[in-house]
Amino acid sequence: MTRADVREPVELRPEFFQDAHAMSRLLRTEAPVRPVLMPRGLRAWLVTGYADAKALLADPRLSKDSERAQHVFERRLTATAVRSTPMSRSLAAHMLNTDPPDHTRLRKLVNKAFTARTVARLRPRIEEITDRLLDDMAGAGEADLLTALAFPLPITVICELLGVPDDARDDFRAWSNTMLDTATPEQLQEASGKMAAYLTELVARKRAEPTDDLLSALVHATDEGDALSEPELVSMAFLLLVAGHETTVNLIGNGVLALLRHPDQLAALRADPSLLPNAVEEFLRYDSPIHLATLRFTTEPVRVGDVEIPADEFVLISLLAANRDDDRFPDPDRLDVTRKAGGHLAFGHGIHFCVGAPLARLEAEVAVGRLLERFPALRLAAEPDTLRWRDSSLIHGLETLPVLTGQ
Ligand code: HEM
Repeated sequence: MTRADVREPVELRPEFFQDAHAMSRLLRTEAPVRPVLMPRGLRAWLVTGYADAKALLADPRLSKDSERAQHVFERRLTATAVRSTPMSRSLAAHMLNTDPPDHTRLRKLVNKAFTARTVARLRPRIEEITDRLLDDMAGAGEADLLTALAFPLPITVICELLGVPDDARDDFRAWSNTMLDTATPEQLQEASGKMAAYLTELVARKRAEPTDDLLSALVHATDEGDALSEPELVSMAFLLLVAGHETTVNLIGNGVLALLRHPDQLAALRADPSLLPNAVEEFLRYDSPIHLATLRFTTEPVRVGDVEIPADEFVLISLLAANRDDDRFPDPDRLDVTRKAGGHLAFGHGIHFCVGAPLARLEAEVAVGRLLERFPALRLAAEPDTLRWRDSSLIHGLETLPVLTGQ
């Protein structure tokens, strides 16, 4: 492949996401920074090397300001691309779509709720929810681990923290799956419309009757000090709800799959459960739940190695590929629960580093730890090669993970 060839956009078809590691390795070997065409028709630059990814995640010349991004969008979308709808925009006024100083203001409002110390207090409740879910799994004998444990645990925890009633959870899963996967414009508009309507109504209810939860506290902060506008409030609830469960589901699912496919690593972890926190870091590195970090765009030309990305171009940073870069992690395709996997980019890097990382780590530790303790004969109920990954450029997670819990 010549230098000219690698400057031609490569089309990332949905199949790319079924075989994400092999495809990413191929792209990184050819050109660690290159133009691509995304499934929804967006042109962007894809970054697959660890050092470049880390540097760009913290580079202030890359912006996430969604309003300024609109003009870049208009220029970088192909004729058939999916355009954002007014409804989906009403959920977009959140910290992941802003630069400082707005980003600093929005993040400060929720930072305290998710520190490692605050989150540690949730451990008994997380254990209780996990044990109840495992009881149900034991009764069934065979289960889809995602539906039985990996989804209900984080959604229950984040809904309880925010003060979202139980009855909305299945709807949330459906709406957010549609919004994050490769949906049609109509499906996207319908799902985001329902989500926005529900959350707007919920914010109004919290204003009328505050309860002891994070959403009521945010409504109160807004009424007291004008800290958040109404769209910012609804968008904050949206971001926390979606980020608070879509990702952790896949940390648990991908982690359990990795263990079941590597019996030596499973045995090592069973023999020494104190390895659990380290194993969770390795799951994050080995099969990162977020494939591509959210869109950024260049506000001026940015040189990366020997490539110059011009101003007003979208940049996609592959966390999944960076975490398998052999320049940073020796023998990167090997799962090793004793590896020092610290420094992986699964939670991002820089000012947008994941707010919920301590919560995600704790949920995964409890879920995987209790699961292995409870089911000594846990095994896959399907051939690994038949498992399908979600068609999503954001989420790297399975559609289902069938397991057998009995002897
Ligand atoms: C940001 C990953 C769990 C809330 C991020 C980013 C990543 C990430 C990669 C940065 C995206 C970017 O820079 O484009 C993950 C993973 C998780 C997880 C892999 C689980 C395994 C959670 C949880 C919460 C959460 C449980 C909520 C409570 C957020 C928020 C941001 C964020 C609010 C935006 C931070 C900012 O813009 O400053 N997450 N996340 N995440 N995450 Fe997470």
